[in-house]
Amino acid sequence: RPLKHNDLHHNLAPAKAAGLEDITAAETTLSDVDGLNGNLVLRGMRIEDLAGKLPFENAVAHLWQELIPLPAPTLRHAFGQARLRAFSAVDSMLAADESLSIFERMRVGLSAMTITGDDLSPPIHVSGALPVLLASAYRIDQRQDPIAPNADLGTAHDMLRMLFDGPPADYKIATLDRYLVTILDHGLNASTFTARVIASTQADMRDSVVGAMSALKGPLHGGAPGPVLDMLDDIGTADNAEAWIETELGKGARLMGFGHRVYRTRDPRADVLKAGLAQLPQDNPKLVLAEAVEQAALKALAKAKPDRPLDTNVEFYTAVLLDAIGIDRRLFTPLFAVGRAPGWCAHVAEQQKYGKLIRPASRYVGP
Ligand code: ACO
Repeated sequence: RPLKHNDLHHNLAPAKAAGLEDITAAETTLSDVDGLNGNLVLRGMRIEDLAGKLPFENAVAHLWQELIPLPAPTLRHAFGQARLRAFSAVDSMLAADESLSIFERMRVGLSAMTITGDDLSPPIHVSGALPVLLASAYRIDQRQDPIAPNADLGTAHDMLRMLFDGPPADYKIATLDRYLVTILDHGLNASTFTARVIASTQADMRDSVVGAMSALKGPLHGGAPGPVLDMLDDIGTADNAEAWIETELGKGARLMGFGHRVYRTRDPRADVLKAGLAQLPQDNPKLVLAEAVEQAALKALAKAKPDRPLDTNVEFYTAVLLDAIGIDRRLFTPLFAVGRAPGWCAHVAEQQKYGKLIRPASRYVGP
């Protein structure tokens, strides 16, 4: 029988096909997400041995070691230079429409940058720029003047200084480093896949990261931690947690900060971030509230969805940790982009080595 073109399509269950669930779409040496056992490995090292142990630049040097090889001190210096160059994008950010969110203004800044034609490579330009774009976008939003970078400082330290115009406490720098390393890379998540699709068309590093940022923004991906904090505020006190959660689940709402496409157990990044809470001043009532809400949510989710293991994901403790060091909730998704940018860039570099256009098929079911 002659082959008809529809014979070539796989017969996937529609719900699974729609989310490309269980489809392997790339080989990578960067990270391995073991969803059954709750393990995350970045280039051979467990996330627990990186986050809270290494500053951001050292963890990036580890992730980039074959694709974009640079010793950590050189990388720290190069990121400082990239921050200085990125400050020139501030004018475009100032000129953009007033109604833009901080995240959108940051994306405008990245689109306005030239990332070729000097001695810095595209991954360094892009990853080094985002901390400056974030801090400047925040200050523009607050109607304050953006603060120029200090190339001698580490990324986390300089970003806090540019945001708040003063020297940050050591524990805040350490907490931010822990957060940025925790989210450095995570397999073929929606934003990373987006970056690889764009890179496969031979568009450049900046374009790939602009696209990845757009994919990150949605509430099912990097947009969740702000709503997690809204949820904690709404619940207010620990004794209100169970009733609030029951009501929300009864309405069919999703609890932000819980559930994951790959993890069928606890997201290991949630524990890495939770461990960071021990290093913060303990007189913060939100820490007790968060623990109570997490316990109540896990109990209620197990009852509401007995067939689907739903556990705490990275976004729950992201919200608690960043709030505890004085970060405005509107900066949560922008900070996610800062931490994930080196991961996106490494995936783009890997995809560029493949040199193959990503172009899947669709099955026609129309008239
Ligand atoms: N609260 C309540 N129910 C949930 C939740 C949740 N947080 N997550 C999943 N479910 C339910 C769904 O309603 C669905 O139930 P049904 O089969 O009765 O319709 C079932 O569990 C399966 O959900 P899917 O959407 O099919 O699972 P998927 O793997 O596509 O979802 C996702 C993963 C999007 C993260 C989901 O768990 C969710 O919406 N969580 C809340 C948002 C969030 O925290 N996002 C951040 C994720 S981490 C990150 O991106 C960095």
